[in-house]
Amino acid sequence: MAEVIIVADEEQAGALGAEAVAALVAWKPDAVLGVATGSTPLPVYRALAARSLDLSRVSAFALDEYVGLPLDAPQSYHSVIAREVTEPLGLDPARVHVPGEGPLEEAGEAYERDLRDAGGVDLQILGIGTDGHIGFNEPGSSLASLTRIKTLTEQTRRDNARFFRSLEEVPIHCITQGLGTILRARHLLLLAFGEGKADALAAAVEGPVSARVPGSVIQLHPRVTVLVDDRAASRLEYADYYRYAYANKPSWQPL
Ligand code: F6R
Repeated sequence: MAEVIIVADEEQAGALGAEAVAALVAWKPDAVLGVATGSTPLPVYRALAARSLDLSRVSAFALDEYVGLPLDAPQSYHSVIAREVTEPLGLDPARVHVPGEGPLEEAGEAYERDLRDAGGVDLQILGIGTDGHIGFNEPGSSLASLTRIKTLTEQTRRDNARFFRSLEEVPIHCITQGLGTILRARHLLLLAFGEGKADALAAAVEGPVSARVPGSVIQLHPRVTVLVDDRAASRLEYADYYRYAYANKPSWQPL
């Protein structure tokens, strides 16, 4: 079962997430981070930036990218990762990877190759969509899927329209690491905040493992940490147990 930590607010989640990255980099200065975009991981990036760690040898792999946007559009994940991760954290741009470069039909396999060549992801930061997606693996995605082109659901396009001038501008297609790709990471750190994520989070953490809720694939992974605020945790049946387990967490156990 995932370790579920119910935090007071996004700031506390950010601090814990940053602590996990700092601990990793302390013993592995050339660690490979899996980075998500969207609003959810921002508190982690902010807390990490405030620690001024030397992350110059760290590599980073983004989860996904829109298809059909110029790579330098402000909403492209190439731009978002540069703005919110590479620059503030002081990463070497040559070590930061975002899928979707080169010929599209080869981009999935090329990204899988790059991930393998880098030695795989040590710590994967994840958010979850209101429809249960992780990465852009929408409901129905194969639990064994690898990096490939997907079609976004209308719900995801509506959720992400806040970053565009209109819903029509939100691309219909994307390239995303698969659920099988994400499962290869050594440690998954899933964050969720707010009432709007409560159903998806409960289904992912406590529901049946099913392609209907792609986030439920985390239940197949041996090392998962879930950081949630009270509102996102509000539909978790075992919330009391998670609080009890965290309050009694042995001091020798890492996050
Ligand atoms: C982004 C990603 C998505 C988001 C999810 C939640 O790279 O892979 O799975 O994590 O759509 O988005 P926010 O955090 O904006 O609610």
